[in-house]
Amino acid sequence: MDLSKKWVKVAKVSDINSNTPYLAELNDRVIALYQTDEVVYATDDTCSHAEASLCEGTYHGYIVTCPRHGGQFDVRTGQAVKMPAVSPIEIFPVRIEDGEVFLSPDDM
Ligand code: FES
Repeated sequence: MDLSKKWVKVAKVSDINSNTPYLAELNDRVIALYQTDEVVYATDDTCSHAEASLCEGTYHGYIVTCPRHGGQFDVRTGQAVKMPAVSPIEIFPVRIEDGEVFLSPDDM
């Protein structure tokens, strides 16, 4: 965790269901948050294949499934793991403190 950066609270860990992406916004970016075993991951909300919102998809076992064509991404790395998605999505560092989730605008 880089404490020299500015961090902004965007959610509580308890807000984020382990099977559903959680939509957060920071400045003008729409970010998808995912929770597995109290660890939170953050990616760009937009699928790299054709502009669908990943927050409208499903999440299970570190994998988000796009609602539009079923492409999948590993939220830990951003890598596409199932066609038709082939390009990665952007991932962002997450800071957790006292059950609250922070993102840094410096990373956007
Ligand atoms: S828009 Fe996401 S897989 Fe096509």
